[in-house]
Amino acid sequence: MKQTTCISSIDFDYLRALVQQHSAVVLDGHKTYLAELYLQPIAEAAGFNSITELIAYLRHQPLSDLHIQAIEAMVTNETSFFRDTYPFEALRQFVLPELIKKRRIERSLNIWCAACSHGQEPYSIAMLIREYYPILNNWSIQIIASDFSSKVLARAKKGHYNQLEIKRGLPKNFREKYFQQQEREWQIKNEIRQMIDFHQINLVHSWSSLPNLDIIFLRNVLIYFDIPTKKALLKKAQQQLRPDGYLFLGSGETTLNLNESFERVQFNKSICYRLHHQAPLGQV
Ligand SMILES: C[S@@+](CC[C@H](N)C(=O)[O-])C[C@H]1O[C@@H](n2cnc3c(N)ncnc32)[C@H](O)[C@@H]1O
Repeated sequence: MKQTTCISSIDFDYLRALVQQHSAVVLDGHKTYLAELYLQPIAEAAGFNSITELIAYLRHQPLSDLHIQAIEAMVTNETSFFRDTYPFEALRQFVLPELIKKRRIERSLNIWCAACSHGQEPYSIAMLIREYYPILNNWSIQIIASDFSSKVLARAKKGHYNQLEIKRGLPKNFREKYFQQQEREWQIKNEIRQMIDFHQINLVHSWSSLPNLDIIFLRNVLIYFDIPTKKALLKKAQQQLRPDGYLFLGSGETTLNLNESFERVQFNKSICYRLHHQAPLGQV
């Protein structure tokens, strides 16, 4: 194995610009060691002697698979089943019952996981619906899961998880019921996988393939964007959400000072967002 090389500030600036241009993610300038860690295997696999050589090559080539690999390597994919617990409690106890009442005539719900990473988030929603809302079995329920990275989407579609991933956040009874063990790995069952439509969507590009949405999960991705991008995406979310729909953000994210059309709604320990002027809970 070749020795890990340090990345120069000029090369890091190039990488930052490349990542931001294609994903809008702003890399933390203090974390150059992460670039060294993540790019070294890519450089080696592509036959370069160092990260310096890899970046020199990338600079002078049109966008290629190697650029995409470098970009995707620098973007965080951290996720887990039922991440942070409370948003899923809010979904189960408040948001779904309210929307089920409101949509009882049309009998349809559109839910979008906007940055689904390896799929734990949309699968958590699908399992929750299957487990607690059998009433929805004969509704039209569309769960759309998207990410800009084809690599993470391919894994999400497979729905195949290792021991570590399966232990993070997934209740044991859900594991027994909705997964099949394959040696030391776990495969999500088809009945859950089939509930989800996976699409490649870059959030900073068009959302025109999406229907109007009842629920948007836009979690743990805004934190990586700059303020103009956060504002632009929240504006798009506002336009895509039905007037009485709900937006879920990550625990470190907010609409405050970014989009005043949303109001915070607190359900026990969880906060989610909806557009202003909605009837108070209970008056649906
Ligand atoms: C930290 S993960 C969050 C996953 C999940 N939403 C959660 O909360 O656990 C962030 C995801 O956002 C995706 N991402 C980053 N920039 C994106 C963009 N411009 N468009 C779509 N997805 C993006 C990454 O590929 C990654 O899978």
